[in-house]
Parts: sequence; C-alpha cells; structure tokens
Amino acid sequence: MENKIYVGDNLDVLKSKEIKAFAGKINFIYIDPPYNTTNKTLAFNDTNNDWFIDISKRLEACYELLSDKGCIFISIDDNELSNLLCLGYKIFSKENYVGLFITKQAQRSNAKHINTIHEYVLCFAKNKKNLPKFYINRLENPAEAKQIQRIINKVKKAYKESPKLAKIELKKQIEQYVKDTGEKWIVNYSNIDEEGNIFFAKDLSTPNKPNSLDIDEIGLHLNPLKTRGWSSKEKILNLYNQKRLCLKNGRPYEIEYIYEATNNVSSVLNFYSRQGTNDLKKLNLDGLFDTPKPVELIKYLIRCSQHEDSIILDFYAGSGTTAQAVYEINKEDLTNHKYILVQIDEKINSKNDAYALMTKMGYSEPTVDQAMLLRINTYLDKNNLKKDYILKKDR
Ligand SMILES: C[S@@+](CC[C@H](N)C(=O)[O-])C[C@H]1O[C@@H](n2cnc3c(N)ncnc32)[C@H](O)[C@@H]1O
Repeated sequence: MENKIYVGDNLDVLKSKEIKAFAGKINFIYIDPPYNTTNKTLAFNDTNNDWFIDISKRLEACYELLSDKGCIFISIDDNELSNLLCLGYKIFSKENYVGLFITKQAQRSNAKHINTIHEYVLCFAKNKKNLPKFYINRLENPAEAKQIQRIINKVKKAYKESPKLAKIELKKQIEQYVKDTGEKWIVNYSNIDEEGNIFFAKDLSTPNKPNSLDIDEIGLHLNPLKTRGWSSKEKILNLYNQKRLCLKNGRPYEIEYIYEATNNVSSVLNFYSRQGTNDLKKLNLDGLFDTPKPVELIKYLIRCSQHEDSIILDFYAGSGTTAQAVYEINKEDLTNHKYILVQIDEKINSKNDAYALMTKMGYSEPTVDQAMLLRINTYLDKNNLKKDYILKKDR
C-alpha cells in the first residue's frame, strides 16, 4: 500500500468505497478534531452547533475500519471532553475504554478561576481484550530519555579510559538515578560489554524440573540447578549466534541493553503544544498553523501501541503532523508504517497568521489542505525524500 492523502469532507471519504476497502484493517487512528472552542481567530472554523452529531457520524464510520486489535486516540479539551467520553462509551462500549492521557497545552490560560494548562488524548479500543500491550522504549519517553542517555554517555566516556573506571561510574550513576527517581529497574543494568554498552544479564533458568544441558557447539556444559531448569538449547544457541549471550561464573545469561529497556505507559505525558509550533519553525514554516500537535506526541502514541507495521489513519489532518510522525518513525525505527490522511479544503481564516504567510507565498485564497501539503512537501524536500503519497482531490 502507498501513503494516501484525501482532500475533502472526512465523512464522505470514510464512507467512500476506497476507504471501506480498509474495513477491519486499520490498527491505529489518531484524530484531533476541532475542539469547538468558538475561538474565531484560528485558521479553521472552531464553532459548530452540531459538533456532537458531526463527530458521532464520523466515529461510527471509523469504528468499522478498525481492526480487532486496533485503537483510536482522540485529542480533545474541556469544551467537549464529557460529550466525547459519552459518545465513546456508546460507540466503542465502556469495556473498550483504554484511558485518558493528559498533555501540557500552555503555560497559562489567564482564566478567572482555574488556569487550565492541559488537554487530553482519549483512547478507545475496538476490542480491548485483543489490543496489544502498550509499552514504550525508555529512550523514546521524554520523561526519562535525557537522564538515561546521560548515563549511557558518561559510562561510554569512562570506558574509553578504562573498563574499571566505567564500572565505578556506572555504579555511581545507578545510585544517583535510584535516589533521584525512586525507580529501581535500572539496578539490573549493572554490566558493561567490550564496547562500553550497559546491559542487563537476564537469567536463563526456567521454572521447570532441574536438568543438565550440553551445548557442544559452543562448549557449554551446564549442571542441574537446585530447583529450576535451563532454557532450551535452541534458545541459548540462538542468543549466542546473535551475540546476545554472556557468561558469568560459567553460567549463561541473555544480554539486554539499556537502550532497549521499555516502560509501561503513564497517563500524564510530557508534551507541550508549543513543541508543535517549533516543529513548523524547524521547517521554516513558522505560523503556518496555530494548533499543530507536537510530532513527538503522535510518534509516542504510535510507538507505544504499534509494535508491528500498521496503517495510520488521521481524518482531521490539519497541517499533516501525523504524516511527518510516520516518516520520522519509519526512518528512526526502520519500520514501514503507512498513513492515510483526510483534510477538508477549508479556506484559511483571513485573520489568521497562516493566511498572511500563505498569501505572501503566492497562494491567492489559501486553504488548510494546501497548508498541509506545503508542510508535508517541505518536510520531504528537506529530508531528501521523494513524494511517496497518492493525492486524491476530486471525489
Ligand atoms: C485541530 S485541527 C488538526 C490539527 C492537526 N492535528 C495538526 O497537528 O496540524 C482540525 C482540522 O480538522 C479539519 N476539519 C474540520 N472538519 C473537517 C471535515 N469534515 N473533514 C476533514 N477535515 C476537517 C479542520 O480544517 C482542521 O484543519
């Protein structure tokens, strides 16, 4: 399949024959619908008396597209959260409610009573029982990545001086980490390989009957343990061939590097809406859209829930952040996710910065889909990637 971008009303697109062909095949949907804030200065229309009816129709249509192990993430704020939650219960059922993330939206809101600085990402599964476990590589988790990367770098640097120094440094870093965070998982990562990489030596015994094990191919002869068995010969040989086996006092262990360590997914996410604005700045498109989501937020949602290649659908595409997130993940994780985006050819509000920016660039009556394509194409050009999407306009 190729990446696809549809320009048009998402209800028409979701109900089209072409999209219906994906019924039951989509593992991941992310949407960021207008929040109905009634703010008149945004690039797109954010006042809709029929908000509930409109979103109901679209959620019903996309329900059919989700695979049995699929899920949908929906960005929303206080304006429509309660309505959306009720609607989610109705369409997906309460059993398939997965949870509600909180993300940081702004530093201050200047409200008279509560300075609301967060918004939400709501998640429902098609069938929660079949939804794969969510987890995230700790180095992809903004809440902990920097600290872990610092430890990795410090130990590597010390290792260049001497392995002994690296051991001392690692011990010091682990103690400090536990003290700072109260988390003990890192205590397992107490080993360093010949390249200065930190790893966890995972035990290869199993809760089976004690047995001896001879693996002549690698000269390993293991006596029975007191109460447990050994992992299979195949598994140990496999680990050896993948350079994932280490021996300590003649006993084999599986190597798991610290950069592979995963964590479960917490409901409070450390993403700021401002990051989305900076993502556009980096493409020299400052002001192209005033509410873009951070690319890293979408990457996080995809990474924690999709552990195999998936079709990623976003039918309120806005500036096309989801497309950029898919390109970046595919490059960084060597995955092959594909995206389908839908965006209506809505005229950009002439009071919005995006209007000024785009008219200056030569667009006479700029529309949001043009802004989206401009962003995606700029990203592709900057990264020397070819245009690998099919654009469908006339429906
Ligand atoms: C909050 S913005 C999405 C922003 C996007 N997540 C990003 O990071 O740039 C919502 C978008 O939905 C679009 N939209 C609203 N109604 C639509 C419809 N019926 N079909 C397709 N797009 C629609 C609006 O034009 C707007 O661009």
